[in-house]
Amino acid sequence: MAIRLGDTAPNFTATTTQGELNFHEWLGDSWGILFSHPKDYTPVCTTELGEVARLKPEFDRRNVKVAGLSVDPIEDHHGWAGDIEETQGTALNFPLIADPKREVANLYDMIHEKANNTLTVRSVFVIAPDKTVKLTLTYPASTGRNFQEILRTIDSLQLTANHQVATPVNWKHGDRVIIVPSLSDADAKQKFGEFETVKPYLRYVNDPS
Ligand code: BEZ
Repeated sequence: MAIRLGDTAPNFTATTTQGELNFHEWLGDSWGILFSHPKDYTPVCTTELGEVARLKPEFDRRNVKVAGLSVDPIEDHHGWAGDIEETQGTALNFPLIADPKREVANLYDMIHEKANNTLTVRSVFVIAPDKTVKLTLTYPASTGRNFQEILRTIDSLQLTANHQVATPVNWKHGDRVIIVPSLSDADAKQKFGEFETVKPYLRYVNDPS
């Protein structure tokens, strides 16, 4: 069944390039990203995994653990890792789940039969420390993801979690944010001090983080 926002991210155990992993235990109190790619030894996936490895310091800074997944066997993951390091300039530094029986792929509805009935699509699940799913994305095999956008969504989700604010169109870290409608003007004044009211439902405040 499809996983929807607010659902608890299903737990699983799996073999990864960093050993056996119990997903919930491995996440601990961190935020998490679980993302699938269609196939090892393919061009778009090679560039994506290199980029995720390159961005590890950015994920660490945000207290986010990242795990990748495909239905290829662990031997292929280990072999392909050498190609990723050679061609992308960064070694794999996060666990890559081997899911040849498609157990995790099915649990997370990562195989969309009308796109491809055996391979995973490019799914992304962002998971909060309480294990609820906060964001999902689905890209086709032919479109590499923009992991800067995924970092941006994490910045937004973490602001919302910590400060009762939302982020407007094209927002990026440091830009003004929006006070959520459920917060009264009086409470907003107490919480943020000054803010700008464009409409009663559209109120901007400087990034409180
Ligand atoms: C790729 O990563 O390049 C790719 C993987 C599966 C199908 C098409 C492209």
